[in-house]
Amino acid sequence: MDVYEAIFLRRTVRDFQDREIDLEIIERILDAGLHAPTNNHLREWEFVIVNDRAARVNLIDRVRKGITEEELVTLLDDWECFDPVQREMYMDGVPKQYKMLLTAGCLIVPCFRQKRPLLRPSNLSALNGFASMWCCIENILLAAAAEGIHGVTRIPFDEEIGYLKECLQCPADHEIPCYLALGYPAENAPRIKQLPIEVKDRMHFNAW
Ligand SMILES: Cc1cc2nc3c(=O)[nH]c(=O)nc-3n(C[C@H](O)[C@H](O)[C@H](O)COP(=O)(O)O)c2cc1C
Repeated sequence: MDVYEAIFLRRTVRDFQDREIDLEIIERILDAGLHAPTNNHLREWEFVIVNDRAARVNLIDRVRKGITEEELVTLLDDWECFDPVQREMYMDGVPKQYKMLLTAGCLIVPCFRQKRPLLRPSNLSALNGFASMWCCIENILLAAAAEGIHGVTRIPFDEEIGYLKECLQCPADHEIPCYLALGYPAENAPRIKQLPIEVKDRMHFNAW
């Protein structure tokens, strides 16, 4: 598939068919991830695939399992999320956080090597490992899209991170940027509208 096709095809999907992803396809899309640009040339990325049902249920145990409509509206108001397109995304996405992780055809936890404390960076370069990891994740999402597979990245809340690392036996010098839930989209999976942006409106020449 042409790279532009994959870029425009890729969308966040949180509703999945009850269908596993073949291991060879997982290998192919992770290999695409492992070809992403990287700050220090080392590609210090590892991927924990959690498809055993009991292990997955255990892993996502700290993820909030539900939210009422009233709680959701209060949450979005607190976040000052008033753009209608953005709000539509959160209204659809927030209640699905637990279920999407549980039902994804493949749940991957990417890990990257981080020698110094990630949350106390001394300068921008100190975040290079984190930035590179996200280049890798985008490659994975694009390769997955080319395979007819879509999904979502979810950022673990603070209270989930220690538990996640413990469950996965993640080495102390590694960090987890997100959960990566992938799968074949359910027939009725919504493709939430992207905010329309006119490229020319975001272009500046020679200075802002
Ligand atoms: C850094 C990052 C963090 C995200 N965190 C979450 C998340 O915690 N939960 C979730 O459901 N989606 C999450 N998403 C998915 C976004 O909501 C989604 O990419 C965005 O709404 C745009 O939609 P699109 O991917 O279909 O273009 C995240 C995406 C990125 C890039």
